[in-house]
Amino acid sequence: METMGNMRRTHYSTRVTEEMVGQEVVVAGYIAKSRDLGAVIFCDVRDTKGIIQLNFNDECPRDAFEKAKLLRTEYVVMAKGVVALRESPNNNIPTGKIEILVKELKILSKADTTPFEIKDNVNVNDELRLKYRYLDLRRSNAHEGLLLRHRLAKIARDYFDANDFVEIETPILVKSTPEGARDYVVPSRVQPNRFFALPQSPQLYKQLLMLSDFDRYVQIARCFRDEDLRADRQPEFTQIDVEMAYVDEVDIQTMNEGFIKKAFKEVLDVDVPTPFPRMTYQKAMDDYGSDKPDTRFEMKLCDVSECVANTEFAVFRNALDNGGSVRCIVAKGLADKLTRKEIDKLTDVVKTYGAKGLAFTRMTADATSSSFEKFLTAEEIAALHAKSGAEKGDVILVVASEENSVVYAALGALRLAIAKKFELFDPDQFNFLWVTDFPLFEFDKEENRYVAVHHPFTMPKDEDIDKVESDPGACRAKAYDMVLNGVELGGGSIRINNPELQQRMFKVLGFTEERMQSSFGFLIEAYKYGAPPHGGMAYGFDRLCMLMGKKDSIRDVIAFPKVQNASELMTGCPDTIEQKQLDELYIALVEKQ
Ligand code: AMO
Repeated sequence: METMGNMRRTHYSTRVTEEMVGQEVVVAGYIAKSRDLGAVIFCDVRDTKGIIQLNFNDECPRDAFEKAKLLRTEYVVMAKGVVALRESPNNNIPTGKIEILVKELKILSKADTTPFEIKDNVNVNDELRLKYRYLDLRRSNAHEGLLLRHRLAKIARDYFDANDFVEIETPILVKSTPEGARDYVVPSRVQPNRFFALPQSPQLYKQLLMLSDFDRYVQIARCFRDEDLRADRQPEFTQIDVEMAYVDEVDIQTMNEGFIKKAFKEVLDVDVPTPFPRMTYQKAMDDYGSDKPDTRFEMKLCDVSECVANTEFAVFRNALDNGGSVRCIVAKGLADKLTRKEIDKLTDVVKTYGAKGLAFTRMTADATSSSFEKFLTAEEIAALHAKSGAEKGDVILVVASEENSVVYAALGALRLAIAKKFELFDPDQFNFLWVTDFPLFEFDKEENRYVAVHHPFTMPKDEDIDKVESDPGACRAKAYDMVLNGVELGGGSIRINNPELQQRMFKVLGFTEERMQSSFGFLIEAYKYGAPPHGGMAYGFDRLCMLMGKKDSIRDVIAFPKVQNASELMTGCPDTIEQKQLDELYIALVEKQ
């Protein structure tokens, strides 16, 4: 192995151009490929920007030529040479017309054979890729995701800075407060038996900054939530977190539409039309069965309860008699493709959402077959077909349940599954919308109490403030989500800036006076010293990068992501700690039963 000595890189690979033929340059990087043809050796050097070819020919000094013979993939080299035109150009890469005729070569590091080949689209399982994440990241595909992330962070900072936002860091060791997801906790050594939590978001701090008269705050903030992982969920993730004073919902939405417009134009050269469409939560549920509807395709839900209001068919009867509904979607023109076998697979989809089954009518050109119409009267069938708009060639898919939430979730998921399978949308389209007027509370059966849908600091709609105690389930919130192609990209709300109303909220949420004081006393007090109206939102920054980069998972835009069981495979954490550390913390371990 050699040192660089006085040699220094002059150019990244892709910055060496045809105009530089005859010029001496120094490049540095990993050996991506090496071909020893006897009299001449060709090597591809890969650096962070791309690839360039080194040529060791009969004019190459012999010591460099001898060293070139030793090169293996992933060796790290620095090479000095003269730019020349290639005899046989490669039009697939930007530097394909040129090469470097090497005069001097330094082997800066050797490399063992890597556990997998460093190239795009190589077929390696995720576990191995993540165990050797630093090798995985050498691939240009993986680079792309992180470069996009870097650019977006810069655009966000520039945009919000230009609009008078100030970036302020908030603590990572915070107080554990009830509500929300499960906390990650950190024991205190100096105060035995006391714990910090890692922040689920900077929510309380950003509200308090509004009371500190920083009236526009932004932070690219790390957040931690101990919840189950999904493709768009990590235990540790990043938000672009925004808060503004002297605003109402539309002001916040407009400011954030401006950011999205700028980001999409600068990164993807896509013009996003603003203002985004608005859809109330109720409409989103009724039409799409989801509070984050993918509006790139139709296939809307249709409530057919009234068509079968008097039915004796037990499945529908049961649903209707117990406060539920019967709803359907129509898969247009898919009667031939949605075979019985396919419908069976879709039945499994709806069952995972709690539906007991999936009723269907297939209307092919020659015949109509149905799993349930034999139980209905001719009038009921006619009414159902008319209401759903189904025609020959279509399939009607019906879910009935005594729980409307089950009907929505099952049909919402079904809609997505069908659209994905039959490619019913344009993958290049970006459909943004705001979902507004969320419910303020929802009833949690397990806890047997109301819980906040967004968080307990969310302002009720003006017209619902009087109903907070008398009819919590009917109150709507000044809360909104930004949705892109069926993904919740961000969410926010106007906050309660009136301490009395905040206390009323906590009472509805089942807090005793004592618990309210110990958990949120500082906050309620803070609002007694003057508090401007304010609100904000937070983007899932990883999700934004994933969608803009057309990646399948937020893992692809996170340098060192966690896997399904919330561990990080490269370093192997979480891990045990030494007894001494436990002793210092006064922590005794018990065996997991
Ligand atoms: P919320 O909890 O809706 O709001 O989070 C805001 C956005 O963060 C993203 N997100 C996640 N991304 C990856 N992994 C996760 N585990 C994860 N959880 C959430 C989503 C979501 O829309 N403080 C409030 C915002 C506010 O009111 O201003 C908050 O955190 O994209």
